Parts: sequence; C-alpha cells; structure tokens
Amino acid sequence: MAKIHAVRGMNDILPDETPSWQFVERCFRNVVRRYGYKEIRFPILEQTQLFKRSIGEITDIVEKEMYSFEDRNGDSLSLRPEGTAGCVRAADQHGLLYNQQQRLWYSGPMFRHERPQKGRYRQFEQFGIEAFGMAGPDIDAEVILLSAQLWRELDIAKSLTLKINNIGSSEDRAKYGSELRSYLSSCASQLDRDSQDRLDTNPLRILDSKDPETQVILENAPIMTAFLNQESQDHYERLKQLLSDADLDYSENPKLVRGLDYYNNAVFEWTTNDLGAQGTVCAGGRYDGLVTKLGGKSTAAVGFALGVDRLVLLLEALAAIPACAKAGVDIYLAIVGDQLVSQGLQLAESLRQQFPTLALQVNCGGGKYSSQMKKAYNSGAGTVIVLEQDGDSVDPVTEVKLRRLDDSEESTYVPIKDLQNALSKIIRS
Ligand code: HAM
Repeated sequence: MAKIHAVRGMNDILPDETPSWQFVERCFRNVVRRYGYKEIRFPILEQTQLFKRSIGEITDIVEKEMYSFEDRNGDSLSLRPEGTAGCVRAADQHGLLYNQQQRLWYSGPMFRHERPQKGRYRQFEQFGIEAFGMAGPDIDAEVILLSAQLWRELDIAKSLTLKINNIGSSEDRAKYGSELRSYLSSCASQLDRDSQDRLDTNPLRILDSKDPETQVILENAPIMTAFLNQESQDHYERLKQLLSDADLDYSENPKLVRGLDYYNNAVFEWTTNDLGAQGTVCAGGRYDGLVTKLGGKSTAAVGFALGVDRLVLLLEALAAIPACAKAGVDIYLAIVGDQLVSQGLQLAESLRQQFPTLALQVNCGGGKYSSQMKKAYNSGAGTVIVLEQDGDSVDPVTEVKLRRLDDSEESTYVPIKDLQNALSKIIRS
C-alpha cells in the first residue's frame, strides 16, 4: 500500500535534530524568565475574524496564507498564522490587560500557506513576547535588548543585524500612503504584479517588494519620515538614544513596514546573511491600537516573535550548537543473560534514584555481549555498566564491570554495594 507522507511545508523534527531545538527553547525560557516574563498558552485554532481584524484584511497572511475552514457548526475558524492576535484575545478575555502591566511569552506552531523553501514553512514554530500597559520607549528598548541578550547566549550575535524604523500612527500612514500612491501611479505599468494589486489597497506594502524594477522606482519615492507626527518622532528618537546608550548597534531602514497591519511607531527586525533568502529570524514592534481594535480598552503594547526553525538553521550553519546540548545518555547498562533482567532493571531504578539527573539507558531485549556493547557505543554513553553472570551460577550478581567508552577503554570491576561511590567519581569527572 502507498505510504502517506507529511503535508508539504510541514516538517518532522527527528530525534537527531530535537536537541538543537531544545537548546534554543532552554535559552529562550531562561532569558525571558530573567526579564520577568510569564508564560501564556492559548489555542492553535481561533475564530477567523480574530486574524482578519488584527493582522488586517488586505495583507498576504489574511488574503492568501491562512488555513481557514468551516467547522461542523458552520463557524469560520483558522489555524493561527502568528501569536500576537491570540495572545491579546486571551489576555483581554481574562481581564489581564486593562490598567495593568503584563510581560507575557508564548511558544508553539504557527501556520501559513506560503511557498515552502529553506527557512519558510507552512507549519513553523515561534517564540514570542508581548509587553502590555507600558507606553514609553523604555519598554521598546528592553524588548529589543532582551532579543540581543538571547543572541549572545546562543552565540550568534555576530551574525545578526538589527534594523529599525518608525511607521508612525495609522493616520500618518494613511497620509503617507496616499502620497506614495500618487507617486507610484505614474509608473504603475512598470511595477511587479503584486505591487500593482497593492497600489489601491495597501500601497505601503509595495515598499517590501523584492522585484528589482520596482525597487528602482522606489528609490525616488517619498519617504515616510516626512509624514510622522511629533509624538511618534520623539518616542522613536528616545528609543534610538536608549539603544545607543546600551551600546546596541542598529541601522535604520525607512522601507521596513512589516507585513501585519497592527503596528505603530517603532518596528524592528533582526536579519542574517547566513541563511539565504529567508534571513529574518525575529521581528516585532509596537502595536498600541490592537487591543481596542479587538474590543478591549486602549492598552499600550509592544513585542516580537522569532522563528525557531530559522534560528535552528542558523545555529547549525554557524556550528553554534554546543556539544553538551547534543549529549545523549550518560550510562548504558548491559545485561548479559536473561536470568539477570530483573536484577538489572532494579539496579537501574535504584541508580536513577541515587542520581536524579543521570540519563541511564538499559539494554532491553537481551543479546550477546558484543551486540550490547555496540548498542552502548551507539547510545553516546560515556560509560557502560556490564551485569554478567560469572560461569553457571544462578545467584544474583554481586559485582559489575564498569567500562569507559572513550579512547582509554578503561575497565574496572566494582562490587554493586560500592557502585554509587564509583559512579559519583565518574559522573563528576
Ligand atoms: P512575523 O514577522 O510575521 O511577525 O513573524 C515573526 C518571525 O516568524 C519571522 O521573523 C520569521 O523568523 C518567522 N516566520 C514567519 N513566517 C515563517 C514561515 N513561513 N516559516 C518559518 N518561519 C517563519 C509576527 O508573527 C508577529 N506576531 C511578531 C510580533 C509579536 N509583533 C509583535 N509581537
């Protein structure tokens, strides 16, 4: 019978790869905890309306990329294409936002029906943080500094650059959008197909176009800076000052507009040249209008999300995953002889109790000494304990062989009553 494969653009993460993912997950959880963030979990499936209202009806995500369907009640539901909308919905629904400050983080799979390629998938994993109830640029700076701290801990800081921009208020963007539209309309026929479609509906998205001819036309286009309100400019200037004071390098990119409609004022992206076309590993910004748009009371908000798939690819490209992150089991227990299985299992249980952090793998399924040793080497363990009967005795074994699985291949015989002591020395060394 024909085999059934995974859905295109949705990846299996195999046991050889999961240690790299766990390494990123551990670093992220550790860093956000140190900045006072608390975890929030919300559903993968939400009302389609939630994403339409927050991300915007005229965006690639909502128009082309959502996995939407009618459920058995005829309600339109969608797999979440990102986490901010669900996070705001959940936090507001449970009264966590109004008149409060919150620092929240989340992680999990997101779904976008994009054209799959390296670093761009239809199911991908994000880690995100969202800070609510703080209107000043200090929290924008802290959010960005948190991301920079994460790059340092993952040892990839050198590969990443920070780009920032101020996109002002929605009124500023409306004014700028109509100016941009009049400029681009005069050369509409030279624009790429997507940009032509965007001209009437969402001209700012044309700034994102990768088409070379469109980019040439954009070189002389009016820029957003001239349309920004004073308050927004002050906020942005102060943010830049705070980043500089903290010695964080950034560059300004007036064409950075983001593909989701909810942003205002400062937005940012971290990009790398080490991943090919999909070089944005983390992106975010301020979105003070979103809570109101979703029916809540006005709440200042800022956050970012990083793509874990891309970060793992980057760590692998830079060989930045420490060997210890890939470590498998510490000790392998070979049990030679069926009559010793029960004693072996009990020995393993008591060792796991004595050494709570020890990873000990038992050879289940029997086999000759030589084949068990082969499995011990393959397990990645540093030491094998061999439980073997001496001669034809049927008594429980009182002594085991300890063998190092390194170049020394050093072997010693240890009475089982002294095993804890002997292992403490090995585990510490
Ligand atoms: P976003 O820019 O759409 O923003 O996605 C954030 C990150 O998710 C991207 O920089 C990228 O690393 C990763 N990503 C996006 N799409 C894919 C894909 N198809 N395959 C692999 N990775 C992908 C947001 O999602 C906002 N919710 C971020 C945010 C949080 N803004 C404020 N708070």
